[in-house]
Amino acid sequence: MDKIVIEGNVPLVGEVSVSGAKNAALPIIAATLLTDEPCIIKNVPALRDVLTMIKILKSLGVKTSFEAGRLKVEPKYLRQHVADYKFVSTMRASICLLGPLLARLKQARVSMPGGCIIGQRPVDLHLKGLRALGARIKIEHGYIIAEGKTLRGSDIYLGGAYGSSVLATANVMMCAALAKGRTLIENAACEPEVADLADFLNKMGARITGQGTPAVWIEGVRRLGGASHSVIPDRIEAGTHILAAAITGGDLVIRKARREHLSALFDKLSSIGIKIAFLPNGDIRVKRGSRGLRSTDITTLPYPGFPTDMQAQIMALLCVSDGISVITEKIFPDRYMHVSELNRMGADVFLEGASAIIKGQKRMSGAPVMASDLRASAALILAGLVARGKTEVSRVYHLDRGYEKIEEKLAKVGARIKRVKE
Ligand code: EPZ
Repeated sequence: MDKIVIEGNVPLVGEVSVSGAKNAALPIIAATLLTDEPCIIKNVPALRDVLTMIKILKSLGVKTSFEAGRLKVEPKYLRQHVADYKFVSTMRASICLLGPLLARLKQARVSMPGGCIIGQRPVDLHLKGLRALGARIKIEHGYIIAEGKTLRGSDIYLGGAYGSSVLATANVMMCAALAKGRTLIENAACEPEVADLADFLNKMGARITGQGTPAVWIEGVRRLGGASHSVIPDRIEAGTHILAAAITGGDLVIRKARREHLSALFDKLSSIGIKIAFLPNGDIRVKRGSRGLRSTDITTLPYPGFPTDMQAQIMALLCVSDGISVITEKIFPDRYMHVSELNRMGADVFLEGASAIIKGQKRMSGAPVMASDLRASAALILAGLVARGKTEVSRVYHLDRGYEKIEEKLAKVGARIKRVKE
């Protein structure tokens, strides 16, 4: 296993380019199963989760070729409808194969994703949505078994105890695209990745409107064709680099990010005292203000609220901000595996239910720490960049699930960071 070694306390200066969005690429790759014609997906990041999704497609018989961010999928070779436990257990996002397999083959068998380190991962909204379209679904031997000869459009409310669901919205949208009649999804997820999936489906011949809003209309069509699409930039990767500039007191220009995807983060950063400039060519320049870092309070919410996928990373910044900050995690209340590791580096964070109380410290100190999940790993990298001395982050395979060569990108802007074999 690899680990990442960082000598901290170096301001990052220069330009960083953002890769394609993992959470757009994954459902879009699954959506190619809705047709038997070839699809070309561009700006696909070379991440572990993407390679896992490609492996699953191959296990279903589909032919793929992936080179330099360009993925070609030939779904006419799709020959079976079972997404095996050995893949799904490593990547919960495989659940988004349920909709396309059911819509294309009229049956699907996808392993129950189980929980993961960030907390419970129920699928009740996925099942509710697909049942509303006429699917018969049962859970047996750890698998979700879905059948549906004819799927019919329906009005579906997809809000749950924690608000909207990104991948449940994706599954229902993909299924409804080939159902008879019209579907309305109310309390649909508004994340840009869901809108990007809808844009790809429309290029395939689907008739979807309202994507990116809580009310999404899908007019079912008889068939979908092949399409070519370039995935949107990864707003969470962009946010992570923005915080790298903020936490090191550097001066970074972030390229290819979409400012409209990051409004909640910019809102909080300006109250913390970070200067954000939007350049005429669309780049985003990030510098720390002259008056240090101020505390703030953050609650994670569905988009366009503050993203749960940025919670661990901004906690690292708040660990070195003045005063006391409070983070309340409304999406995954247990998503705090990074806290104990940050405290090993000199942070002072304690948990009270779904809230984390952060007492800002003057400095953090480098230490050997262990990654536990994707975004927690990113928080430990950020803390290592500001800490005095050496930080070693082990189990970086978590990081590789969602960040493409992040240590190379950070080294290019001055970070003393390298990957070594453990
Ligand atoms: C997507 O996961 C993302 N993953 C997650 O990013 C992200 O944290 C999450 O959305 C929230 O934004 C991908 O897109 C591949 P949800 P998803 O269904 O769709 C509850 C990362 O780091 N819920 O929107 O699985 C659920 O427990 C990953 O890149 C139900 O109650 O998340 C959670 O509390 C981590 N019933 C809330 O909804 C359901 O049937 C939001 O989950 C489904 C979800």
